[in-house]
Amino acid sequence: MADQFDAVVIGGGPGGYNAAIRLGQLGLKVACIDKRGRFGGTCLNIGCIPSKALLFASERYEEAGTEFAKIGIKADISLDLPAMMKQKDKVVGELTKGVEFLFKKNKVEGITGEAKILAPGKVEVRAADGSTRSLEAKHIIISTGSEVMPLPGVTPDETRIVTSTGILSLKAVPKRLLVVGAGVIGLELGSVWRRLGSAITVVEFLDRITPGLDNEISKQFQRILTKQGMSFQLSTKVVGVDGKGDVLKVTVEPAAGGAQQVIETDVMLVAIGRRPYTAGLGLEEVGVALDPKQRIITDAHYKTNIPGIWAVGDCREGPMLAHKAEDEAVACAERIAGRAGHVNYDAIPSVVYTTPEVATVGKTEEDLKAAGIAYKIGKFPFTANARAKTIVSTEGFVKILADATTDRVLGVHIIGPEAGNLIAEATLAIEFGAVSEDIARTCHAHPTLTEAVRQAAMGVEGWTMQM
Ligand code: FAD
Ligand code: NAI
Repeated sequence: MADQFDAVVIGGGPGGYNAAIRLGQLGLKVACIDKRGRFGGTCLNIGCIPSKALLFASERYEEAGTEFAKIGIKADISLDLPAMMKQKDKVVGELTKGVEFLFKKNKVEGITGEAKILAPGKVEVRAADGSTRSLEAKHIIISTGSEVMPLPGVTPDETRIVTSTGILSLKAVPKRLLVVGAGVIGLELGSVWRRLGSAITVVEFLDRITPGLDNEISKQFQRILTKQGMSFQLSTKVVGVDGKGDVLKVTVEPAAGGAQQVIETDVMLVAIGRRPYTAGLGLEEVGVALDPKQRIITDAHYKTNIPGIWAVGDCREGPMLAHKAEDEAVACAERIAGRAGHVNYDAIPSVVYTTPEVATVGKTEEDLKAAGIAYKIGKFPFTANARAKTIVSTEGFVKILADATTDRVLGVHIIGPEAGNLIAEATLAIEFGAVSEDIARTCHAHPTLTEAVRQAAMGVEGWTMQM
């Protein structure tokens, strides 16, 4: 006999656990299945959370070594890497346990095992000991996330050739770290190890770093990271790795072809993107349609082509971000419960947690040019912000793009201190359909970094006052 549920959620990451919790809140009988052994998905176990714990700790380490003296503090510091890793693991453990607590609170049954869809409404779960359990539900939500995109010809061993998982648990600081891919993972985790003492070389296929970010921000970002000591080889691809000796010998060549060069390194991080993960789920047998990138195709309400099967998060289209997965999960759960949940894809912020942080929401200048939309720009540098001066963090600027005719805020791009927190105001402005004058005429506390956002908004109409 199969166990009966209103909804079964496959995957316990930000998409899956939030869908299950919201369905539980709305009174449905829900199960959430994950094969990892701990809930929280990529984000809590091997993604957002451990990486941010190491970013925080390594930033403090670097600050203590190089910045404290500037504000009159003498420190004699040394690195305790095992303790830093232990603290990271503690945070991960607490947060994954927190998901179990939320499941109990919202009457969600958390099930550990590998799920397979046998037919619409029917799911089989296989536990690690080989035993199986059958579940039946009117609704199945797939939220199986994504996995590391492999680099052809390169097999990670997670000690010397690592992915984003192995780089979070290195046992010692490598003398040299070669990062393949100048995207979010490469720059965040490259920053962690640079601060702890590694020499970092970043090899990027394109002629720029962080594709997708506003170009002006991206250029400034590269300048700052270079000043911090990262070295970049753009328009370059890796063609092979020789790991036979004590050091890795990585052969690279220009992306367009040409003379090869060998870079010697101790550790190599492959961070060239992620791809949807749906292997072994039974999608082909059930007939769930995938797009050419192997993402599950859904309509705007997260329904697949098979009635009763829904998909949210990294396994469908859109940015691979935890908060995007979470918002889709809530909207999908509300649709299942007969409500009107939806996600505004124009108002999904994105943050790179380096020093300084980079945060962005809405359209870039390049997007607006491509769409033929006339826009005005307001900009304000942190060098002119009082709070930035007091905290000795004046690198970067705020850039606001507003519609030239209506003044509606279309995009906000920030590189600078606390950019990840500052972007919330801009996201709310876009969500509420605000014009730049709304931000410019809103009182902002002094002295705060938020005043830089306000001054940039004033700049759209040309009345920036503090520079
Ligand atoms: P996932 O979190 O990947 O969860 C899917 C779960 O499904 C997994 O736990 C998997 O075990 C399970 N699963 C898969 N198949 C089955 C099956 N057949 N049966 C049972 N269980 C199954 N995003 C941010 O927004 N901010 C960040 O700072 C950030 N940092 C990141 C840092 C790193 C190093 C990485 C790798 C990613 C980061 N991300 C970040 C991205 C973020 O982790 C993902 O966007 C997010 O986890 C996607 O959520 P999801 O629920 O769709 O999938
Ligand atoms: P990414 O898509 O951000 O960057 C990958 C980079 O690798 C790109 O610049 C790409 O041009 C380059 N590349 C691709 N193939 C290459 C090759 N063969 N050789 C050299 N360079 C190559 O992917 P990344 O950094 O792996 O991150 C994966 C996902 O995880 C991202 O989509 C991101 O959304 C998410 N993430 C989000 C974080 C955040 O929100 N702070 C942090 C970390 C990850």
